[in-house]
Amino acid sequence: MTTTLTLKRPDDWHLHLRDGGMLSAVAPDSAAHFGRGLIMPNLVPPVVTGADATAYRNRIMDALPNGHAFTPMMTLYLTETTDPADVAAAAHGGLITALKLYPAGATTNSQSGVRNIEAVLPVLEVMAEIGLPLCVHGEVTDSSVDIFDREAVFIERVLAPLRQRLPQLRVIMEHVTTADGIDYVRGGGDNIAATLTTHHLFINRNHILAGGIRPHYYCLPVAKRETHRLALVAAAVSGDPSFFLGTDSAPHPDPAKLSPCGCAGIYTAPNTMACLAQVFEQENALDQLEGFTSLHGAAFYGVAPNAGTITLTRGDDPVPVPPSRSTEEGDLTVFDPDVPIYWCVTAVN
Ligand code: DOR
Ligand code: ZN
Repeated sequence: MTTTLTLKRPDDWHLHLRDGGMLSAVAPDSAAHFGRGLIMPNLVPPVVTGADATAYRNRIMDALPNGHAFTPMMTLYLTETTDPADVAAAAHGGLITALKLYPAGATTNSQSGVRNIEAVLPVLEVMAEIGLPLCVHGEVTDSSVDIFDREAVFIERVLAPLRQRLPQLRVIMEHVTTADGIDYVRGGGDNIAATLTTHHLFINRNHILAGGIRPHYYCLPVAKRETHRLALVAAAVSGDPSFFLGTDSAPHPDPAKLSPCGCAGIYTAPNTMACLAQVFEQENALDQLEGFTSLHGAAFYGVAPNAGTITLTRGDDPVPVPPSRSTEEGDLTVFDPDVPIYWCVTAVN
């Protein structure tokens, strides 16, 4: 049995680091394992302009621990008033790696997002021209659509027509949660890829709702039924370069999660790599883990894999879930995968 695994240092292609006290509390966890993180822009107010991204990047650098080797890759939050020239300038200067499309109202801090896709076409056309990728939160917000169907309906109503119109646009379907999403990306050619989160490889909707409501498993897109989880696991371990890790590690302090209207988001940065090793081992696919965490995403984004390595070791006993982090706004609970995890990170170089 494999007990030690050394991989190229992984990247997290979908990461929420927040700001202020929360940023200081969580940045060390991502920097401890990952070489790069694609930083989501859904702050309040959002990171919309190149100037916003520069300022946010500086705050992230200040929050990183001494001696870190972590590079934040910045994104801009696409709004209906985003200036295509500002986007092009930020991309050409290497400041930003992607734009993020949030349908208005789809998730945490998405109020400034897009209501009418026509309004952002000029920006998308420029992005297609210069090869700047669009990260998509793929859920419709139409209240008449059941929350469990919102991803599949988004593909049909928004994503497929958009990509027919702008086939050169490079798109990442973020945090895919359905077999429909997997199938769409698999047959979609070179200009589409998908990120998969850690938590969606472990939980289905029973984890949230059966035997008591468990707010720490609530995120968006919401976890679906088991058949969908199995499709996500199959895609992750398949070796298909269209699928790679974006944790969507999304810290909310416990008081904001454990409330009558709790926030969506699961904090997975500390134990993502250990959890993933467990899934890939379970699927007899440890040889595919490096592609998923460290190679496929870099290739899609057109950057070289990280130079460093990470080593994971399998012990004889399960490793406990990491303890809650303390933040200015209260404790921050770390994801509990609900199955024993025998792996842990033992070296990062
Ligand atoms: O669960 C989620 N949390 N999904 C998102 O899309 C946003 C994120 C957050 O920012 O908390
Ligand atoms: Zn996210």
